[in-house]
Amino acid sequence: MDSITPNEIDIVRASSSKINEIDFENLAFGNIFTDHMLMCDFRDGKWQKPTIKPYEPFLLDPSAKVFHYGQAIFEGMKAYKDESDDVWLFRPDENFRRFNASAKRMAMPEVPEDIFLGGLHEILKIEKEWVRKGKGNTLYIRPFMIAIGTGVIAAPSTQYRFMIILSPAKSYYSGEVKVIIAEHFSRAANGGIGAAKAAGNYSAQFYPTKLANDKGFQQIIWTDDATHTKLEEAGTMNVFFRINDTLFTAPTSERILDGVTRKSIISLAEREGIDIQVRSVLVAELVEAAKNGSLKEIFGAGTAAVVNPIVGFSYQDEYFELPKIENSVALKLKDKLTNIQYKLEEDTFGWTV
Ligand code: COI
Repeated sequence: MDSITPNEIDIVRASSSKINEIDFENLAFGNIFTDHMLMCDFRDGKWQKPTIKPYEPFLLDPSAKVFHYGQAIFEGMKAYKDESDDVWLFRPDENFRRFNASAKRMAMPEVPEDIFLGGLHEILKIEKEWVRKGKGNTLYIRPFMIAIGTGVIAAPSTQYRFMIILSPAKSYYSGEVKVIIAEHFSRAANGGIGAAKAAGNYSAQFYPTKLANDKGFQQIIWTDDATHTKLEEAGTMNVFFRINDTLFTAPTSERILDGVTRKSIISLAEREGIDIQVRSVLVAELVEAAKNGSLKEIFGAGTAAVVNPIVGFSYQDEYFELPKIENSVALKLKDKLTNIQYKLEEDTFGWTV
């Protein structure tokens, strides 16, 4: 990892820390932020000197393009603390690569490695007390970039702000997750921005997800936009299905996010000798498997949610409850993954940094 040396970054320390006011045992996901944030602006065709400074609001012109055209991207990463108090990242190069792929798709400038990864390294050194020991405790990392150039002409901005903010986190979902299979709304289409971590991909899900919430479901499993017959993603996560002893997940495409947890689960399943097939599962196949009892598990996989079992799904107003099983493959893979993240077992893949 490139590192920014102290003279390449302005550091303004907070006069006091709010860490002692935080109840780390009872954290709602993404509500509390650490004492500092990293900020770096792009103007005159180049990235300026990054600053780490106290976490605080900032002013933007009302005509800033992010407000009008949603030119904004983000990443989700986590830091973990091992038993020796060392702080670890999980495959940060993957997030860096994907961030710049998203930037390209959204006509935004790429962020150099020394600012993204080097800046992250520096802010984590300052905020390491916010990463708590113990499995399940993480510091959620939210790098993002917004268009701050002014003017409502619908064209890419010439000025951008890259930031990193940090939030202590435990689990993303607080209870059981039931899903509805999408029959009308779509998350993404070929040629669109589904594979980018663009802000609008997520806000476009809010309305259909609210309709699902009103019916008692937490998330939607998105289907392909053209035919609504193939299962693609589960809300903010990639999705896996276990039919008998085979795990399935859809291949990445222009419509599906190339999830870091997803690809890690695939590698772990292969290493554990679990039969895993990367191919689209049809809605009809899933319904048939639920009816004949061969559907054993469905789970979402993502940085924020880690590996999240889904307890049931609804399709065409019929609800299918998943069986309560012993020897859950989802929980086995989650355990393997988090053991690597918390350095509780050897990282034979070289994923931890
Ligand atoms: C993540 O899993 O980190 C994500 O980016 C999803 C987000 C909407 C919480």
